[in-house]
Amino acid sequence: MALPSGETAQTIRYGLIGAGHMAREHVRNLALIPGSRITAVSDPTRASLDQTSGEIGYEVKTYSSHRELLASGHVDALVIASPNDTHLGILKDIFASGTNLPVLVEKPVCTSAEQADELEILAASYTAPVWVAMEYRYMPPVQEIIQAAHGGKLGNIHMLSIVEHRFPFLHKVGDWNRFADRTGGTLVEKCCHFFDLMRLILQDEPTRVYASGGHDVNHLDEVYDGRTPDMVDNAYVIVDFKRGSRAMLELSMFAEGSKFQERISIVGDTAKIETLIPVAANHWIEGDETEATVEFSPRSPLGPEKHEVPVDEAVLAAGAHHGSTYYEHLGYRKAILGEGSVDVTVADGLQSVRMGLAAERSIVEGRAIELDAAKVVARK
Ligand SMILES: NC(=O)c1ccc[n+]([C@@H]2O[C@H](COP(=O)([O-])OP(=O)(O)OC[C@H]3O[C@@H](n4cnc5c(N)ncnc54)[C@H](O)[C@@H]3O)[C@@H](O)[C@H]2O)c1
Repeated sequence: MALPSGETAQTIRYGLIGAGHMAREHVRNLALIPGSRITAVSDPTRASLDQTSGEIGYEVKTYSSHRELLASGHVDALVIASPNDTHLGILKDIFASGTNLPVLVEKPVCTSAEQADELEILAASYTAPVWVAMEYRYMPPVQEIIQAAHGGKLGNIHMLSIVEHRFPFLHKVGDWNRFADRTGGTLVEKCCHFFDLMRLILQDEPTRVYASGGHDVNHLDEVYDGRTPDMVDNAYVIVDFKRGSRAMLELSMFAEGSKFQERISIVGDTAKIETLIPVAANHWIEGDETEATVEFSPRSPLGPEKHEVPVDEAVLAAGAHHGSTYYEHLGYRKAILGEGSVDVTVADGLQSVRMGLAAERSIVEGRAIELDAAKVVARK
C-alpha cells in the first residue's frame, strides 16, 4: 500500500477537542497524511494537553475549553475525542458557534436514547460535514469482506457473526469508562462499532435485539467514589434485520490471551467469507505479530481460498485499530475539501447507539427489544 505523496496537498488546520489516548491516535495518523496540521487542542486536563502537544511535536495552541478553541479562528476542521458523555454538549456548542466547521466525532456519538433524539433534530440543520468515527469499517481485511459481500460473491446473505475476544477496558482519564452512565454501557461504548458493521454489511435495518450478558470478571475489585464499576464484560447479542437476515455478536472482555481479537464471518447462500484480525502489536508478545487473514469458502466446488491481508507498517503502528484510523482520515479529508461525502453520518452513529442501548436493555429486562420503527433510519 502506498501512502499518498504530499507535494501539493492543500493544508487543513485541525483542532482536537479532547487530548487523551484516542486523540493521540488521531495525531499519529494525521502525521502520515500530507497537508494535515494540528493547530489547536482543547482539554480540561493539563497532563493530557502536555502529553498530546508533545506528541504533535510542533507549536500548537492549547485551551482548557473547547469554546475557546471554537472562538480562536485557528482551525478549519474538528476532531472530537473526549469522553462519550461529553460528545452531545460539545456538538451543541459547535452547532451554535456559527463556525460551521466540519466535525469528526468519536463513537459513540451519544450515550442515551434521550440524547439520540435531541441530536437527531439538532444535526439536521447543521450544513457542514459531521462524520462519526467508526474505525472498524476501514480495517483493510474488513473492507475486503464487505466488498465481497456487496459484490455478490456470497449470493444472498443470511448470516453475519462478529466475535470480539479482547483485553479489559484500559484506564482512562477520570475513569469515565468504568460506568454505564458515562459511557452508555459496554454494548454502546465498545459495540456500537459492531452494530454499525452489521448495518453496513447487511445493508439493512434492525428490527429486534435480544441479548444475554453480564459483568462477571473485570474491575470487580475497583471502587471509584464509593461505586464499583458496572460495565458488562461478556455478552451474546442477536439482531434480526428487516429483510430476514440475522446477525450475532459475541463479546468477551477477559480474553487477552487470544491472538486474534476479531473474527467476522458472513454466510450467503453460495459462499462464506471470514476474516481473523490480530490484536494490536502493543497488546501482544513482541516478535510474534501476525497478519490478518481472509478465507473465502464457496459451497461448490469445495476448496476454501485463504490469504493474508498485509497493512502498511507505518499505518499499523499509528494506532490500535489495524490501520483503520488512517483510512478514515483520508475519507474525512476529502469530505472537508468537498471532494467526497460523509461515510458515517450522524444517522448511522445514532442507529448504532440505539442498537447498543437496546442490547443493554435486553440484558436487564431479559426479553427481546423491538426497535422503534420510527427510529429506524433508512440508509441512503
Ligand atoms: N474509534 C475507536 O476505536 C475508539 C477507540 C478508543 C476511544 N474511542 C473514543 O474516543 C473518545 C476518547 O477516548 P480516549 O480513549 O481518548 O479517553 P481518554 O480518557 O484517554 O481521553 C479523554 C480526554 O478527554 C478529556 N476531556 C474530558 N472532558 C472534556 C471536554 N469537555 N472537552 C475536551 N476534552 C475533555 C479528558 O481530560 C481526557 O484527556 C471516547 O469517546 C472513546 O469512546 C474510540
